[in-house]
Amino acid sequence: MRVIIRKTYEEMSKEATALVKKRLTVKRDLVLGLATGSTPLGLYRELVRMHKEEGFSFKLVRSFNLDEYYGLPPTHEQSYRYFMDTNLFDHLDIDKRNTRVPDGLAPDVEAFCREYEEAIKRVGGIDLQVLGIGGDGHIGFNEPGSSLASRTRLVALDEQTINDNSRFFARREDVPKFAITMGVGTVLEAKEIILLVNGEKKAEVLAKAIEGPVTSLISASALQFHPKVSVFLDEPAASALTRTAYYRFSEEAEKKLGREIF
Ligand code: F6R
Repeated sequence: MRVIIRKTYEEMSKEATALVKKRLTVKRDLVLGLATGSTPLGLYRELVRMHKEEGFSFKLVRSFNLDEYYGLPPTHEQSYRYFMDTNLFDHLDIDKRNTRVPDGLAPDVEAFCREYEEAIKRVGGIDLQVLGIGGDGHIGFNEPGSSLASRTRLVALDEQTINDNSRFFARREDVPKFAITMGVGTVLEAKEIILLVNGEKKAEVLAKAIEGPVTSLISASALQFHPKVSVFLDEPAASALTRTAYYRFSEEAEKKLGREIF
C-alpha cells in the first residue's frame, strides 16, 4: 500500500489527480469507479480543469459509481446521480451513456444489483476505483459488519452515516435510510484503488483502516488485501498514523527508483 501525505487538501487532490491522469494517458477508455461526498471534490475539480485548460479528453472513459440512496430519483439534488452530473460529468466530454450510477428507484433491487455487477464484468472490470472513507470506516455504503466478500446490494445506513450525511439535507429526517452499494468484494476486484482522506475528523478511523487489523467493523481495512492501493492524505488526516516516517521514506525511494512501490 502506498501512503502519500501532503500538507493540504489541495496538494493531496493534485497528487491524486496526477495518478488518475497517468492511468488515463495509458488507457483512454479507462473504466473508473467513482465516489461522491466532499472528499473527491478537489480531484473532480482538477479533472474538469484538465479538460477545460489542457484539452484532455474523457470521451472514451466509462464509469460506475459506488452507491446511490435508495428511494431518491436521479433528479433529486441529493441523489448521487445529480452529484456526479453537476460536479463532474456535465463539465467533461464524457459520453453520459457510459456513466452508471446505481438506480435509486430500481423496482426489482436484486435484479438491478445483479445486472450492475454483470455490467462491470462486461466492460472488463473497473481499472481504477476512487474511494473515500466514512466516519464509521465504511467504503461505499458498506457499513460496519458488512461482509468483506459482499456484493452490490441494498443496505440500511448506519446511524453515524445518517448523522454525517444530514449536513446535505434540510432536515435529518430527510436523509434516506437505505442505499444500493457495491460490496466490499466488488470493490476489491478493481484492478487498482485510490483512497482519498482529508481532515482530522477522519484521522482515527483512517489509522484503524490502514494500520489496524482487518475487520468487517471497519470495511476500509479490507483494502489491506488489495495489491495495488494508493492512499492520498492531507496532514490532518495522517495525524494518527504511526508509520509516517516509513511512508515518507518509501515515497523518496519511489523518486530515486523512478517507479511506484506498492
Ligand atoms: C460516497 C461513498 C462514501 C463516502 C464516505 C466519505 O459515494 O461511497 O463511502 O466516500 O462516506 O464521505 P465524505 O467524503 O463526504 O466525507
